[in-house]
Amino acid sequence: MDDSVYEKYKLAGEVAADARNYGVGLIKPGVSLLEVAESVESRILDHGAGLAFPVNISINEVAAHYTPKYNDVRVFKKGDVVKLDVGAHVDGYIADTAVTVEVGAHVYTDMIKAAGDALDTAIGLMKPGVDLSMVGKAVEETIAGYGYKPVDNLTGHSLKQYILHAGISVPSVYEISSRVKPKADDVLAVEPFVSNGAGHVVSGGGSNIYRCNPGIRLKLVRDQRSRKLFNDLVREFKTLPFAQRWFEKLFKNNSDIVLRRLSFYGFIKHYPQLVDAKKGVVTQKEHTVIITQDGCEVTTL
Ligand code: CO
Repeated sequence: MDDSVYEKYKLAGEVAADARNYGVGLIKPGVSLLEVAESVESRILDHGAGLAFPVNISINEVAAHYTPKYNDVRVFKKGDVVKLDVGAHVDGYIADTAVTVEVGAHVYTDMIKAAGDALDTAIGLMKPGVDLSMVGKAVEETIAGYGYKPVDNLTGHSLKQYILHAGISVPSVYEISSRVKPKADDVLAVEPFVSNGAGHVVSGGGSNIYRCNPGIRLKLVRDQRSRKLFNDLVREFKTLPFAQRWFEKLFKNNSDIVLRRLSFYGFIKHYPQLVDAKKGVVTQKEHTVIITQDGCEVTTL
């Protein structure tokens, strides 16, 4: 890997890890999700990195993909099991890291530990040429050892410049289809999810998270205003996810109506929340790693 690219991945990792730890310290009963999301994002920007995606704050049965709206009034409650998922980038080189916090209680300590243990297991196996289906198997067994299920349809993912899902998936279960093997210098976000419910997520309500659709054929859409907005969005975010909150600030528009129109034309895609199919509680831990000659280096410690 080019030295300057390596330094950018390392810096993104340091900034993301710092912001994640800072966010953990803010999560308390009565504090608003919006305040935590915005404080963590400011922390990333203050350290000179960009936002690789909106801070995700997913609670209890919601495994992933929720960020507060600009006017969100929701607050953390005692007993909430919170997944705080943070992404920073430097010149498009991304660090993606997440941790689970139980608010003011210790009911799910074991499930939180299971996610951490599963992550350590996966990281311990990462090296060039590793069979990712065997990594998935080891993760699955680690989680089963705690008496829980891995979420079988959420995976880790490779990262490339400005690309959050670059083609390689890291499963949390044995999957015969995982044929692509990582090689040295590949960068992967590894993120086992643990469930005490179905161990499978389905689409839920809105996440307030969007992403531009680079495949759109602009010429087919006659609405000039939407085309211009789309071009502005691509310039700002490329294909990285963005929040309804950010859109609101950038364009001072009625974001609900405009975003709905852009979705209608296919300019942008809206992510649904990912919810355990049996409403079980979900925990998660995530680090980003660079594959080295004989193992991997974690960037988000
Ligand atoms: Co993440």
